[in-house]
Amino acid sequence: MEKILDIITEKMQAAFEQAGYDRSFGRVTVSNRPDLCEYQCNGALAAAKQYKCAPIQIAKAVAEQLDAGDYSMVEAVMPGFINLKLSGRFLQTYLEGMRVSPKFGIAQPGAGKTIVVDYGGANVAKPLHIGHLRPAIIGESLKRLYKYLGYNAIGDVHLGDWGLQMGLIIAELSERQPDLPYFDPDFTGEYPKEAPFTVSDLEEIYPTASARKSDPAFSHKAHQATLELQQGRRGYRALWRHIMNVSVADLRKNYDNLDVHFEKWLGESDADPYIPAMVEDMKARGIAVQSEGAWVIPVAQEGDKKEVPPCILVKSDGSSIYATTDLATLVQRMQDWHPDKVLYVTDKRQNLHFEQVFRAARKAGIVPPTTELEHVGFGTMNGKDGKPFKTRAGGVMRLEQLIREITDFVMQKITTNQTVSDEELPATARQIALAALKYGDLSNLATKDYVFDLDRFSSFEGNTGPYLLYTIVRIKSILSKYDGNVSEAKLLPPESAEQKELMLILSRLADSLRAACRDSAPNVICAYVYELAVAANKFYHDVRIITEPDEAKKASYVALIDLTRRVMETCIDLLGFSAPDKM
Ligand code: ARG
Repeated sequence: MEKILDIITEKMQAAFEQAGYDRSFGRVTVSNRPDLCEYQCNGALAAAKQYKCAPIQIAKAVAEQLDAGDYSMVEAVMPGFINLKLSGRFLQTYLEGMRVSPKFGIAQPGAGKTIVVDYGGANVAKPLHIGHLRPAIIGESLKRLYKYLGYNAIGDVHLGDWGLQMGLIIAELSERQPDLPYFDPDFTGEYPKEAPFTVSDLEEIYPTASARKSDPAFSHKAHQATLELQQGRRGYRALWRHIMNVSVADLRKNYDNLDVHFEKWLGESDADPYIPAMVEDMKARGIAVQSEGAWVIPVAQEGDKKEVPPCILVKSDGSSIYATTDLATLVQRMQDWHPDKVLYVTDKRQNLHFEQVFRAARKAGIVPPTTELEHVGFGTMNGKDGKPFKTRAGGVMRLEQLIREITDFVMQKITTNQTVSDEELPATARQIALAALKYGDLSNLATKDYVFDLDRFSSFEGNTGPYLLYTIVRIKSILSKYDGNVSEAKLLPPESAEQKELMLILSRLADSLRAACRDSAPNVICAYVYELAVAANKFYHDVRIITEPDEAKKASYVALIDLTRRVMETCIDLLGFSAPDKM
């Protein structure tokens, strides 16, 4: 099934052709004057220039060619617009098609295609903090959207697991527990299976070590440990594996709590084996050139508005950097998965980094022209003071703590007028909390900064996640009172303006999802599902559904709100949260 806008456009193009004009003028858009019409076509204005006649004359001739059964109104108005309202029958047929088709009949542009979504980006040995919230939420949503549109979507957390933070921990441990076998270069036995630390130890060890970076002797030690780790020193590798195991288990738990799930748990360390050959090849082919002792890839292009510095491949001390890892990761991804697209979700302050990496990857031929590279850079989550969100004490807030605070807040709210059992309470509070948090984030344009406002985000009214859940819960409650079989109920053409409005919005699902995907913009789904919720609320407030005496009408209303529920549940799933049965 096609997008409704495409169907209407197709019909309009045929009408232009039948009236003797070029069909390309027949593009239809959603009306920007909903008080006058639902859809409009402005093509006659452009056609008039080519055919050298009055636009209204063309508009009238085209309007006459349209099939009257499809519209409840077709008007050619001055100076040459064609205004349309769809007929109830047209909508009824389209929505019946949606009801019975898998995935509402939405086309699958991703069939046979693979996309890698690189999001999360947590750094091993550091607890997840507020800065990891946006990549997790936005990335998860985009990945789910691509999957829904048929792509083989591979979410890769791309852990920061190979840099100096590892050397810092090793150096710190070597001073605290120098007798561990990991530090004995002559040790040839088997290393212990148990890690010599817990995750809470790590959470103390890392910041302590990090604070010692300014001590030149310690800093040297940490850099040396990083280098030896990367060069394969046996004891350090064993210690590194312990750090990984302990830390990744904790990260998994935290991402699970956010309902964020990765297909791949690869990291910077997994790119390491690809670096030597890649670097050698780039040197040999002259892609990389020497500059002040370092090897760099010049990536400036004619027409650059801002200076794009060369992409550094190897630093003068021989070490590789962030960009090197990202290039090598692309080598691995191309080799293993042959993606049609690789999408990165990070803070927008990394825009330049990705511009350099993308250009370097193209220049070196790591990525073929047929593979698309995209960076979605997001803005900052601020506190009410307009500055980056902090704890009350002014520190960086842990993700765990934030989720706990939101959940507690919601819990208090729902216990004042409790509708669920005590057992269900924690799970329901968590569902509402995630809806508040994720919708609060995703409903903004990703590139913009936004203010985290717990009161507003968790309100059951207005443009919020909990309002969507509440709407779904209301619909479920109405449906539970229906004595017939919902899946056998048939839609009828709309009778009221409210009903038609709801049907019109439902018919635009495919258009919204495709637009959200095209622009990598979950906020488009948010705007859509909110509009749908508002229309659904109007509808069930104005219409008696369960008490409707006419069985066919009642069944039609039930079919309509059930479709609304399914569409809403699909949309919020794409946003990364779900609705309870009661709240
Ligand atoms: N670990 C990085 C950071 O904390 C984010 C990684 C993003 N992904 C990437 N392929 N560079 O900034």
